[in-house]
Amino acid sequence: MLIMLNMHNIHYRQLFIQYSLVNLSETMSSENLFTEHLNKETIFLNRNALLPHYTPEHLLFREKQMENLVDSLAVILRNEKPSNIFLYGKTGTGKTAASKLVVEHLLQAMKSKQGNFASAYMNCRTYNSKYKVLSKAVKELFPKENFLGYSATFVFEKVMEYVNETKSHLVLVLDEIDMIKDLDECVYSLTRANDDLKNGSISILGISNKLNFKDKLDPRTKSSLCERELIFPPYNAEELTEILRQRAEIALKNKIVEDSALRLAAALAAKESGDARTAVLFLLKGAELAEKKGLTKITDKEIELAKKSVEEEIAFEMISCLPEQQQRVLKSIAVLAGEKKGVQSLHGSSREEAVLLSGEVFEKYQSMAKEEKVSIISGRWYREYLNELEMYGLISTIMSGKGQRGQTKLIKVLLDSKKILKACAQTADLTN
Ligand SMILES: Nc1ncnc2c1ncn2[C@@H]1O[C@H](COP(=O)(O)OP(=O)(O)OP(=O)(O)O)[C@@H](O)[C@H]1O
Ligand SMILES: [Mg+2]
Repeated sequence: MLIMLNMHNIHYRQLFIQYSLVNLSETMSSENLFTEHLNKETIFLNRNALLPHYTPEHLLFREKQMENLVDSLAVILRNEKPSNIFLYGKTGTGKTAASKLVVEHLLQAMKSKQGNFASAYMNCRTYNSKYKVLSKAVKELFPKENFLGYSATFVFEKVMEYVNETKSHLVLVLDEIDMIKDLDECVYSLTRANDDLKNGSISILGISNKLNFKDKLDPRTKSSLCERELIFPPYNAEELTEILRQRAEIALKNKIVEDSALRLAAALAAKESGDARTAVLFLLKGAELAEKKGLTKITDKEIELAKKSVEEEIAFEMISCLPEQQQRVLKSIAVLAGEKKGVQSLHGSSREEAVLLSGEVFEKYQSMAKEEKVSIISGRWYREYLNELEMYGLISTIMSGKGQRGQTKLIKVLLDSKKILKACAQTADLTN
């Protein structure tokens, strides 16, 4: 009976959906909501090529690193175990892109060879324990089987069985390897596994952008993991210009982006970090702004605006990740800065945020915390939070000269106070 009723329900629902669709198409105006976009000229040839996950077929200025990687892994073609390799360098320096490309090429090369090569790429932000690493590996090796809920030992044995029976050389690409909680144990078991293998091998290609992470490792893990090391240095402005030029050719229509705009995007990214991801992001945002405005050229102005909007996005992310009390301190700075209205900038028409006294900010914070009926942090924590906010580039502070009331810290907010308040309000909405 219940089933019958359900079937009726389904029947009525289907009828209702069909009816609604008929009705909707009858009442819809002849103008389709997408018409404007259908006929719009676009400045993109392939927008995907500017997205973060796109990897170009040729990585500029990484020839030496790729050659080293190829040399290290080429022993697999002779049926030998490669050394473990550790890649490190700052964010956006091509570590992930280079590793993925080299592994892809090795897979191609193995097709014409007798031996077997298997690889599993994983980002250890997600696969952050030995068990998760092994589970991901086993999933890649046995795609049709499901090992959910099996013990770590069982999963480990399964990986070993695969390697042994297929005589494979398995390379585990552990990106952001510093995120693995039981890394010592993980590296130890994977390295020692080779002692028990009659055929094939297991090696690790570890990647990290935490430059001093290596020094914190247990000496045994360090020497196993870093049998070979490769450094990816940041790019300079000229290199980033070439990288952007290569990307613009794939992603944008011919001569859409002015050369000076490319150089500006590269220079801005080089100044901050030497990070290719940021440079490409400036170009993408600049292109989107130009397209929105119906422009036929991407100029310096679009890149400057793009940088501003990227910075705001980053700041927004940062604010939303601040601990609650620290966010409240920042909020009190923004509220006070808003009340004081700021002063005219020395450099132009825009307004600079007002200079605040540390004491008045703390008072404002205390009254806000009381109003919200939450505990109040101590003066020591308050100063600690201010230091951190300065480090994140959200505020700047300076000690005043010796006045009537002695020295005090002066605070200036570096972002538009309205935007900070908006970010705080949105985080509150998300957490409520
Ligand atoms: N030499 C290069 N030529 C062209 N594009 C590059 C080059 N290096 C990096 N990129 C591009 O920059 C972006 C970031 O590169 P990648 O993801 O490899 O950085 P990463 O070193 O792994 O950074 P992170 O440490 O943050 O993970 C990608 O879109 C990548 O395609
Ligand atoms: Mg990476």
